[in-house]
Amino acid sequence: MQRHQRGYSGLQISLHWILAALVLFQLIFGESMTAVVDAAEDGLQASRADLALGSAHYWIGIAILVLVGLRIILRLTSGVPRPADSGPAWMSAAARASHILFYILLAATPILGLLAYYVGDPFGEIHSLAKPVFTLLIVLHAAAALLHHFWLKDDTLKRIFIPGV
Ligand code: HEM
Ligand code: HEM
Repeated sequence: MQRHQRGYSGLQISLHWILAALVLFQLIFGESMTAVVDAAEDGLQASRADLALGSAHYWIGIAILVLVGLRIILRLTSGVPRPADSGPAWMSAAARASHILFYILLAATPILGLLAYYVGDPFGEIHSLAKPVFTLLIVLHAAAALLHHFWLKDDTLKRIFIPGV
């Protein structure tokens, strides 16, 4: 059973945008971690920039895991707003499914990253799939948000910025 509340809370909105920024960082700079792992395997020293970005990748990935846990708890305890009914029914179902897929990816990717770091392949290869899968989902998600705002003209985009809308 999904609980419904009026709009998102300020905390839910902050967590949405903090997590979005952290995930974008991971997607843009993730290859530095690959460079660090590859250098270690070849007995070489990675560049200073890759070492710094690799270390950031580790800790930001763990922060994502903790924050998404908090976000899932908030979603289960205080609920989420009802999907807008301004479009066809399949759109609300797709929105719900894509949000659940986001939560699964946000939790599974850091866990696979930890396994890639401490165990190695095949987890490294599976973890690297995060890039195309996340990118596709983010593009669809942002396009859907803009479609709601400019075409269906409902409050979907507004409510991820303003509490209680
Ligand atoms: C949501 C969080 C995360 C995202 C979106 C993410 C994303 C990425 C991306 C895009 C790459 C580069 C893949 C490539 O070179 O094509 C990568 C590599 C890597 N990440 Fe993450 N990462 C996350 C969390 C973590 C965490 C918590 C760790 C833990 C240590 C980690 C460890 C690694 C390792 C070891 C690699 C190198 C994999 C290899 O080449 O074998 N990641 N990650
Ligand atoms: C890495 C980037 C992003 C991630 C991981 C992400 C994830 C999520 C998740 C999981 C939800 C569902 C919240 C819930 O009801 O439990 C959500 C909602 C939402 N997101 Fe994002 N998001 C990202 C980027 C964006 C961007 C760039 C936009 C705007 C262009 C956006 C607009 C929205 C809107 C409008 C909602 C509310 C949807 C609704 O109320 O039905 N998101 N996001």
